[in-house]
Amino acid sequence: MNEERLVSAEQSVEDQAIDAALRPKQLDDFIGQERVREQLSLVLHSALRRGRTPDHVLLSGGPGLGKTTLAMIIAAELGKPLRITSGPAIERAGDLAAVLSTLSEGEVLFLDEIHRMARPAEEMLYLAMEDFRVDVVVGKGPGATAIPLDIARFTLVGATTRAGMLPGPLRDRFGFTAHMDFYEPAELEVIVRRSAGLLGVRIDDEAAAEVAFRSRGTPRIANRLLRRVRDYAEVRADGRVTRELARAALKLYEVDEEGLDRLDRAVLRALLTKFGGGPVGLSTLAVSVGEEPETVEVVAEPFLVRQGLLARTARGRVATAAAWEHLGLTPPPSAGLPTGTGAAPATGALFDVDTEPD
Ligand SMILES: Nc1ncnc2c1ncn2[C@@H]1O[C@H](COP(=O)(O)OP(=O)(O)O)[C@@H](O)[C@H]1O
Ligand SMILES: [Mg+2]
Repeated sequence: MNEERLVSAEQSVEDQAIDAALRPKQLDDFIGQERVREQLSLVLHSALRRGRTPDHVLLSGGPGLGKTTLAMIIAAELGKPLRITSGPAIERAGDLAAVLSTLSEGEVLFLDEIHRMARPAEEMLYLAMEDFRVDVVVGKGPGATAIPLDIARFTLVGATTRAGMLPGPLRDRFGFTAHMDFYEPAELEVIVRRSAGLLGVRIDDEAAAEVAFRSRGTPRIANRLLRRVRDYAEVRADGRVTRELARAALKLYEVDEEGLDRLDRAVLRALLTKFGGGPVGLSTLAVSVGEEPETVEVVAEPFLVRQGLLARTARGRVATAAAWEHLGLTPPPSAGLPTGTGAAPATGALFDVDTEPD
């Protein structure tokens, strides 16, 4: 389900090639994330000036916000090669040893999804990050010996969508952590115009703003919506993307003014019309829209919460006033009252508030 969603921040197969083509190559071309850019620039340039490898860098932020792009930029700015691997690819300490022992001096090692690396490899990484050394274990059982092996001085760039899941000792070994935030519409607008230029799409400024605004603060989504809007403009018009055309295209793809898609709206609508705005338990809500609880929780909820349309409370999911407004519905007089006080549910539909923990 997630893969097919136009507004998913995860990388689809189609995105892979396009992402590569649209990636800014230098820090100066990287749009937005002002503070991260400035801090990173200092880290890199002071290291260059001193002729040292910079501190290890941790990039933390949601999917599609530019972590992989920044890792590539770091290597480019340092003028060093980039080695790419990921947490899930490192199943054993030996997998990591194989990578570390073949790094060249100053090389940048990008470890994507670092929080998913196997535990035994973590210990090895600590030593490598700190002392540029790995202990290679030779033999098995009681006779096994650890032979220390020097490795090249490298810069680790770790990326994670879940900084909180990293063990403290690992987090502490990064000299610099960049927290990547969602982008402002104005920044996304610049990204849309830049991407349009690279893809040879003619797009009006107001159209770029329209696409930017519906992109959930996420460059990857902005680039994807741009491509869909372009398709529409090519087939239904002369290829030039005007504001009207962008609006019509996004309506066809069911991405609304705030970037909500069909699933988001279905969840909200169910919450409002079937459960009087809540509170209602996650699984009850999910069943009412014919989805798995996990899909609702992982795919729809975070954005609805961020938009201030839905709140997670101890007693379940609750719609906010903004949610009623967004769907053009009037909250019942009882809305906002705690349940169990005799307040009648709005529509008398199945109001089986379950009490599962959130
Ligand atoms: N700051 C930015 N400026 C311009 N384009 C960006 C920026 N951040 C991300 N992008 C674009 O968004 C897409 C996804 O970025 P990526 O680095 O793959 O995200 P992540 O690794 O965090 O999931 C890339 O194609 C890239 O072109
Ligand atoms: Mg990435």
